Amino acid sequence: MRLAVFPSAIDTSRALIHRLVELMSEKPDKTFNIAVSGGNTPSLMFDLWANEYMDITSWNRMKIFWVDERCVPPEDADSNYGMMRQLLLDVAPIPYENVFRIRGEARPEQEAVRYSELVKRQLPEKHGWPEFDIVLLGAGDDGHTSSIFPGQEDLLTSDAVYAVSTHPDSGQKRIALTGYPIMNARRVIFLITGKSKAEVVEDMCNSGDAGPAAYIAHHAPHVELYLDKKAASCHEVKSKEKL
Ligand code: 6PG
Repeated sequence: MRLAVFPSAIDTSRALIHRLVELMSEKPDKTFNIAVSGGNTPSLMFDLWANEYMDITSWNRMKIFWVDERCVPPEDADSNYGMMRQLLLDVAPIPYENVFRIRGEARPEQEAVRYSELVKRQLPEKHGWPEFDIVLLGAGDDGHTSSIFPGQEDLLTSDAVYAVSTHPDSGQKRIALTGYPIMNARRVIFLITGKSKAEVVEDMCNSGDAGPAAYIAHHAPHVELYLDKKAASCHEVKSKEKL
């Protein structure tokens, strides 16, 4: 696990954009299959990416998929696709045909199957699972990642690529990339900022059993954590910063 800690959320977002651009420039002939998460944290990064890094990004070599989606229409304020479309996809010249959204407005069970098949068709296979180049994850205060919440750990070892999950408080249905295809990615990168995430980050650094985010952080072979100082403020995390 590689930890990268920055002074602020903006610095962390900028560093992650640089990292993605760097990874893409190392393989100039390759198209990158990237799965993105939603929630609040990546919105800053998407905004910065569209506004400050337009010229250095090979937009036409990115295929965009989603880690998870809330089961709402794309116009809904809760839509992960809607958020990214507004901040980045409508601004940057990413070819329309390279954007593969999860249809949050469709029937969840059917959409999980449709999107699993789509991803299997689009991506190369490794170890029997589709292989993303990069899976960008966040983590919730409760230790969830993708939309795999504590208590829904069966999704970490599901046979499906995407499955339906339920938000434990709101009851909102979600469609979530499951554990094996996340761990099968060439790189799993967590973007986590803010004081409220400090305990989760500490758990992720110290235990593989403390919830879905910690499980992925410990079981995926190539994990990078992009953190701001507040998220990395727990003692145990600080002592690992130099690794
Ligand atoms: C979502 C996600 C989810 C997110 C975490 C963190 O749709 O909510 O993709 O896994 O990464 O919940 O969310 P915040 O950035 O909003 O704290």
